[in-house]
Amino acid sequence: MVTLTTLSPSLTAAPCGAAGDRAATALSNQARREHPRRCSSCPDIVRHVVHVHHPFLREQLTYLDALLAEIGRQTGSEDVHWKRASGLFVKLRTELEQCMLHEEKSVFPQIERWERQRYQAGTREPPADLIQSIHALERWHAGLFHGLWLMLRRARDASEAPGRGAMWRDFVTELSAVCDDFDQHLFEEDCLLLPQITGWQVGHIGKRAR
Ligand SMILES: [Fe+2]
Ligand SMILES: [Fe+2]
Repeated sequence: MVTLTTLSPSLTAAPCGAAGDRAATALSNQARREHPRRCSSCPDIVRHVVHVHHPFLREQLTYLDALLAEIGRQTGSEDVHWKRASGLFVKLRTELEQCMLHEEKSVFPQIERWERQRYQAGTREPPADLIQSIHALERWHAGLFHGLWLMLRRARDASEAPGRGAMWRDFVTELSAVCDDFDQHLFEEDCLLLPQITGWQVGHIGKRAR
């Protein structure tokens, strides 16, 4: 059986006894403790997202891609579970990376410009193009979140099929870590950051400490 150690050195640089340990190491406990809260400013939330959640997601997607390629080498590219999972994964990875890049190159700089105007010139109303960008981003997030859970379901189906190896189970563990972190990632963006521009107030449930 092919193990994780046969993957490229960059993928095995972090300690990887159990698959979950690798993901936990990638996102340090310190970073988790410092997640933003409702009182955090826009620049602080953006900084955290760009320096904690985006690198974690990119690293995990690279790892999952390599893991899936290795599974394909073991099972053969005609395996029905592999074909269904890898087809979706390619689309999902592309979209997730495009979304992060769009935030870093367009939406976050737009927010930072508006923040400067707000404090320097006392501007109250966010520009219409920023509001449009935010609503488009929220819709994009919803689609990506759905795609990730669909991907997890397909991977679980594959891992539970008769005769499947440990690598599918590793894939599920690593993908579960991505889903968990993406939940927090979107909470920070959609519930803490973007409402500071659109004016929407976090409701009762959102007041729980996270
Ligand atoms: Fe993001
Ligand atoms: Fe996002």
